[in-house]
Amino acid sequence: MEDDGFKLVSGGRRKKGPTGITKKASGSGFTYKQSAKAGMERKEPSAEDVIQKIEERKTALAKCSFYSKVIESLFKPMGTFRDRAGEKEIDVVCYGVGALTASNPQHQFALILLLRDQFKLAGELHIFDPVMAKVDRAVAEHFQCVVIEKNERGHRPVTTPTLFYMPHCGHTLYNAVLRSNWPHLPRILILGNSFATYDTLLQGTRKDHPAPYVVAAPAQEVGFPKYEVQEVFNNMSLHTFEKPGGEVEGAGGGQESDPEVV
Ligand SMILES: C[S@@+](CC[C@H](N)C(=O)[O-])C[C@H]1O[C@@H](n2cnc3c(N)ncnc32)[C@H](O)[C@@H]1O
Repeated sequence: MEDDGFKLVSGGRRKKGPTGITKKASGSGFTYKQSAKAGMERKEPSAEDVIQKIEERKTALAKCSFYSKVIESLFKPMGTFRDRAGEKEIDVVCYGVGALTASNPQHQFALILLLRDQFKLAGELHIFDPVMAKVDRAVAEHFQCVVIEKNERGHRPVTTPTLFYMPHCGHTLYNAVLRSNWPHLPRILILGNSFATYDTLLQGTRKDHPAPYVVAAPAQEVGFPKYEVQEVFNNMSLHTFEKPGGEVEGAGGGQESDPEVV
């Protein structure tokens, strides 16, 4: 179990000292005291700490069978996309990875760094998440990423071939990316939550669906294999598009509030 910064000190009497707080475990009769040292241990990690952690995660990920399976399954669709791109470099846009100081986002960020090298995605790697703090930005820049300065809410029409990396984003964010690129879908790839699961999950009729472009997207999906930390890459697919988007029923939708999109 991870140290939560509380230490068992006694049964019985409780006393508040100047250096820490006390809390009584309900019904246990024991008192836990938070030490000043524990408080210090909880300080925010430095950019150097996070960079090192991400390097470690990259190394571990590159060695595991999950990664070889991902490469194997993405090989063909990425090859087709590259052929279509011709001489143009492929850009990456990362939305919604989260704070790079946190564990799951570190796994997810490590994966896109590996994929960038593996598939020679030599354009720019742009990144944005509203929760990114100064330390996250410093870490992203260390890995040659360009931090997007303003919240685009997914409205980013691209002119060059682009992989959108969006692990576990809200449905309106996928909807906005699709909508902005609807006439040129073969120009983009979306690596994110499986669209196929949305139609049933979001329970709307086609007409007033909260993410109509997600439902209408002419996407082919390649699903991810299982990863050792279940919630990191679950329900993820690569979506490719061979043709532009067609007519969309309820095209004015997707504007309602989505608790996962700021
Ligand atoms: C469900 S969380 C997923 C976090 C992380 N990828 C994971 O799987 O644990 C959705 C993420 O989308 C981010 N998000 C919300 N609005 C966004 C926006 N407008 N642009 C980019 N990311 C956004 C949130 O801050 C959050 O980190």
